[in-house]
Amino acid sequence: MTIHAKISGVGHYVPPRVLTNKDLEKIVETSDEWIQSRTGIRERRILEDGKGSSYMGALAAKLALENAEISPQEIELIVVATVTPDMFFPSTACLVQEEIGAKNAWGVDVNGACTGFLYATAMAAQFIESGRYRKVLVVGSDKMSAITDYTDRNTCILFGDAAGAIVLEPTENPQEGIMDFLLKSDGSGQNFLYMKGGGSLHPATHETVDNKMHYIYQDGRTVFKFAVTGMADITEEIVRKNNIDPQDIKLFIPHQANLRIIDATAKRLKLPDEKVLINIHRYGNTTAATIPLGLSEAYYDGRIQQGDILVFAAFGAGFTWGSILLRWAY
Ligand code: UT7
Repeated sequence: MTIHAKISGVGHYVPPRVLTNKDLEKIVETSDEWIQSRTGIRERRILEDGKGSSYMGALAAKLALENAEISPQEIELIVVATVTPDMFFPSTACLVQEEIGAKNAWGVDVNGACTGFLYATAMAAQFIESGRYRKVLVVGSDKMSAITDYTDRNTCILFGDAAGAIVLEPTENPQEGIMDFLLKSDGSGQNFLYMKGGGSLHPATHETVDNKMHYIYQDGRTVFKFAVTGMADITEEIVRKNNIDPQDIKLFIPHQANLRIIDATAKRLKLPDEKVLINIHRYGNTTAATIPLGLSEAYYDGRIQQGDILVFAAFGAGFTWGSILLRWAY
């Protein structure tokens, strides 16, 4: 008997504070026109000081549990994808566990950057498919404002804060749930998108702070080039491999890093606009949160129905990239 993991609950959280392109015009030399035409972003959310990724992750998780109609005590495993953990340790998963009262779970963080949610979901799904667990929580949460240099116009316009969460449960219907995933990484991309400071190689010193090593660095042009090809290739590959006609995809939910990257992928698959989830204009790039946030918004907006074929795809630091194919079953 084949067991698949299906998504039985979704939730998301975005902080109330909005940072618009106009606001950024006052901070760095940029323009609303430049940001919108190059990225598609109009505004992003910023989490208040004194709160970390676990705060947003826990709120998204609570909504996902309610939606799945299960209690926190039933959760057996929590996987949190993040590059902005509240602290190096304990894990953000432990903090989320405590906050939501998931007393019977264990938890672990996954660092897959913008592909983190896909990595986390694929890993979590294995525990369901093996028959080991029946209720697993996956969270993608990033407070990107915590590692963004608001004097660097190359990066500060791109990122925002948010969280999304899903509950995975088993289904014995082979036509339902997560049908396939493709995951990749290529460490030769390490020099194009990173945060150097604070780890074991460059522990925090006055010098690392002065050299702005605790902020994101991105060679945007190079990452863009790889992202366009990587996202389109991996999306096409999973569709082909599973003999899916791209026309049968109900909703494509891509990582939201740049509207031009999303458009290029959609064009390759000849997907019309209404089949592509886009919310980058409202949230910017929220790293591990983009896909569960998009999924949750689409679900609560009534855009996803029983039996729909969904495809997720992402590309990010590492480089890392991947895609997931699923048939929605609630
Ligand atoms: O989620 C993780 C994966 N990340 C991505 O997928 C992001 C991939 N990269 C991108 O999305 C794009 O490369 C960016 C949006 C980051 C930049 O867009 P671009 O079209 O690649 O611009 P560019 O970096 O080639 O810069 C073009 C010009 C430069 O000026 P010069 O050198 O041509 O004189 C920049 O200095 O635009 C300038 N520029 C800006 N101008 C106004 C860079 N940032 C800004 C800004 N406002 N905020």
